[in-house]
Amino acid sequence: MDGAGLRPERVDDDDLVPFARAVNRHFYDSEADDDVLPWVESLSTGSRAWWTRVDGRVAGNLGVIETTVSLPGGGDVPLAAVTAVGVAQTMRRRGVMAGLMAACLEEAVARGEPLAGLFASEAAIYGRFGFGVAAPHVGYRVDRSRVRFPEPVDVHLVEESTPEQAPASWPELHDRVRSERPASVAKHPGQWLLGITRDPPGWRGGASARRLVEIPGRGYASYRVKEHFDGLLPAGSVRLLELVATDPEAEAALWQHVLDLDLTTTVEVSYRPVDDALPHLVADRHALRVTESSPLYLRILDVPRILASRTYRGRGTAVLEVMDPAGYAQGRWRLEVEEAGASCIPTDAPATVGLPAQSLPGIVFGGIRATSLAAARRLEERRSGAAAELDHLMAVDRAPWTTMEF
Ligand SMILES: CC(C)(COP(=O)(O)OP(=O)(O)OC[C@H]1O[C@@H](n2cnc3c(N)ncnc32)[C@H](O)[C@@H]1OP(=O)(O)O)[C@@H](O)C(=O)NCCC(=O)NCCS
Repeated sequence: MDGAGLRPERVDDDDLVPFARAVNRHFYDSEADDDVLPWVESLSTGSRAWWTRVDGRVAGNLGVIETTVSLPGGGDVPLAAVTAVGVAQTMRRRGVMAGLMAACLEEAVARGEPLAGLFASEAAIYGRFGFGVAAPHVGYRVDRSRVRFPEPVDVHLVEESTPEQAPASWPELHDRVRSERPASVAKHPGQWLLGITRDPPGWRGGASARRLVEIPGRGYASYRVKEHFDGLLPAGSVRLLELVATDPEAEAALWQHVLDLDLTTTVEVSYRPVDDALPHLVADRHALRVTESSPLYLRILDVPRILASRTYRGRGTAVLEVMDPAGYAQGRWRLEVEEAGASCIPTDAPATVGLPAQSLPGIVFGGIRATSLAAARRLEERRSGAAAELDHLMAVDRAPWTTMEF
């Protein structure tokens, strides 16, 4: 059957269990109650879901978490955080996902959400829908035996926490760190539930239960340890899930805790900001192998709102001609940044740069330089020097960072 004409439907709350089972099926994950029900619990507030059904079977699914994301200079705007995108193996490449995405973006616009965002399993999928990298991230694989901290660190600051205790203070710490970072997605209560409180064995990938540690009021980390012995030698690995600190001493102490766990030889972590402190904390940065990590993709649905709401360090004017086949960002936009603030309005004036919608989020959130996109022909300079002017105008103090995938 062809996907054309298949209409996505909104999933009722009563249908969240079959919805979640379909999501797991399409990701080749377990459909057992223990693995599915905590996730359903997390979806039951502040989220929306769609599916496309054919003869009573779920052909495709897509969920949206209603949350917010930080702008450069501070302040949050609503974000439709897209998740759980999957299509049945037998229904792929027939337009099912395209239909679900169109429905979800239409609704985001109708609700006045100026942005949609997602983490992608494959980079090539979502550019056609106007999503582009807003927050590039790095990962590390650390050879623990080679790590030394040149400055003394007080690891005794670090205390164990518990799934009962952590939810009381961690969200506030996360928000504090987020407020200094652009493109930082707020965690919906359901994500705290999944990230701290619920931890079924099926989610652990053969590793330990989630370990939670904190420096009260200053930072926290969560991780799992996978036991392994190489002959008689301990060779376990640590999967660091999240590490967030509000001051340099807490940051150093949490890293040292994680990099000093007995019975392990490697530490792996994803979703770190590109201006992370870690390489500067250790004596030999060659002990850190920098690995690929999924970036946050954003899709700008309301160009004037986003451009006029962020703050700028520089002053100046740019005219951006945005090409967007879906229409949401399409147009020629005049951005004027003055002492009193920024404005962004449609204009007939000649454009200084032309770019596709997917090139816009990286520039606007400060994660990608306009000059890099120009060099890759993903942005066209219509006036010489306009890309460098945009770099200056859009520069941010801290690199964009969303601390965990949603
Ligand atoms: C990725 C997935 C959701 C695509 O669903 P689908 O219904 O086959 O996609 P569609 O038929 O609607 O494709 C829409 C467009 O995206 C393209 N596309 C789809 N999957 C793609 C992929 N993996 N890589 C590159 N392009 C892809 C299609 O070619 C099509 O392009 P066109 O508009 O130029 O014709 C599906 O393959 C899947 O469920 N994969 C496993 C789970 C997964 O990876 N989910 C994504 C999580 S972020």
